[in-house]
Amino acid sequence: MSCLLVWLAVAAAVAALLWLLLVRPLGHWQRLGVPFEPGTPLFGNYFRVLAQRTSAGEVLAEIYKKHEGKAYVGVFQFQEPAIMVRDPELLRAILVKDFASFQRNVFPVDKDLDPLVAKNPFVLTGEEWKASRQKLTSTFSASRIRNMLPLVAEACDAMVRFVRDEEPASLPDGLDVKELASRFTTESVSSVAFSLRANCFEDPNPEVRAMNRQIMEPTGLRMLQLTLQVFMPWLAKIVRVRLVPLEVDRYFRRLVRDAVDHRERSGVERPDFLQMLLQIRKRSEEAGEGGYGEEEMTSHALSFFVDGFETSSVALSLLLHDLAHSPADQSRLRAELQALDPLDHEAVLHAPFLHACLQETLRLHPPGLFLRKECTAAWQLPAAEGQGRGAVLTPGTQVLIPLLALHTDPQHVPQPLRWWPQRWLPDEAGAAPPPRFAVLPFGEGPRQCLGMRFALAQVKMGAAALVRACDIRLTPRSPPNPPPLDPSSFLYGARGGLWLHFAPLDARAD
Ligand code: HEM
Repeated sequence: MSCLLVWLAVAAAVAALLWLLLVRPLGHWQRLGVPFEPGTPLFGNYFRVLAQRTSAGEVLAEIYKKHEGKAYVGVFQFQEPAIMVRDPELLRAILVKDFASFQRNVFPVDKDLDPLVAKNPFVLTGEEWKASRQKLTSTFSASRIRNMLPLVAEACDAMVRFVRDEEPASLPDGLDVKELASRFTTESVSSVAFSLRANCFEDPNPEVRAMNRQIMEPTGLRMLQLTLQVFMPWLAKIVRVRLVPLEVDRYFRRLVRDAVDHRERSGVERPDFLQMLLQIRKRSEEAGEGGYGEEEMTSHALSFFVDGFETSSVALSLLLHDLAHSPADQSRLRAELQALDPLDHEAVLHAPFLHACLQETLRLHPPGLFLRKECTAAWQLPAAEGQGRGAVLTPGTQVLIPLLALHTDPQHVPQPLRWWPQRWLPDEAGAAPPPRFAVLPFGEGPRQCLGMRFALAQVKMGAAALVRACDIRLTPRSPPNPPPLDPSSFLYGARGGLWLHFAPLDARAD
């Protein structure tokens, strides 16, 4: 009898513990009177994310649609409660007006395992973030970007030569455009960051592209690792997930050390990002600040590299896909570009229709499907329906900004699944463009994307070079628009890839 009682007591204790750990957290939003999407123990709303059946961005978009009319919805990222914000005005408050209460991005990084990533401005917090952002802001000024354009233009030329060489073979499926765009951005970013000639279009597997692949390639294992890192950092720490594999870490350290040594010995100066970092180091030393050593420089160089190539290649590949789906707009864009001096790179950046096309691509296909912020000081939500007072978000609560869902909400954007660049040209659309806080592919406020100017320049120049040189057409393998999403891709990725033909428009000029 006593044995049975002991067993019953143990079973009750285990059940209570399981309830406490697995069931009670799912009552979090109900207890606060916040509208919410019910979750299941352990997985919350993310079972399909873990099973790699649906991307987290799409799961959030489904929940977003289900809760039409509400300003915010409580969700569960596995066991962790988070608040998804649906209302653009509330987003304005969170990202700008009350930024002091939401200063952090949620991207947990283990400083010991990933020392280089831990210094990326996206990951830094508090005073460290402020100081780093302040130092780096000047490196992305309009005049610095202008100096980088000839380097980007060289990468454009290499891409056009490659496309012309490949296409006469008339591959029935066309070219894998994501791969093409990744080679272009790797070539461009390597050159702009380190004056490194990556040879991405001549060499089938250049070393630096292999390093990129190790970081970003959406293999099943890599995506599982990233899912753990993002949603269950405690488990990622136990199984020692590294964001940057050791080989890549060593590669970048060697690359930066060699480049710095070479410049210091030879006195050579180049118009690249590394040179700007050397200037920052010199200024820090002169001001007696110190603390800007090789580790910082390598980390910032790696950040530039990682932040700079993948998001931009996603944007470029989708812009080309959109243009192939809309031949009339492609012709209009070509006419706009042909009216410009081909050597005036800056004119491309200011071409209004090209700008509208890219804005529309970033709206319909935001490279980052959602953003995560952390509440850093208590903040009161506006009252939900039937509530007298809004609930108070406590520090540590995660706030989700569902970019994909917001950008395709018919309440903010009429016919949201149609790629229609004219909606960004009010004279033609006959209506105001979509509201600012409903379309925010680069985020907003003090933490808005630091590389936005460079990203826009790089993508516009890549697209302009291809549109000038080729007629971009769909192939039997091209997906519809918008394409189905690849659940194993962390950024916006098309399932089955993006495939296009590039038919040269004139005789080879080189
Ligand atoms: C089309 C390309 C790109 C897109 C769509 C994009 C998007 C974003 C987004 C959504 C954020 C978060 C903003 C927020 O938290 O409110 C971000 C942050 C950031 N991005 Fe980009 N990005 C792109 C290209 C680049 C490039 C080319 C670079 C640098 C070379 C870069 C560097 C950064 C950095 C350093 C941050 C962190 C800023 C901070 O927290 O202070 N990005 N980006």
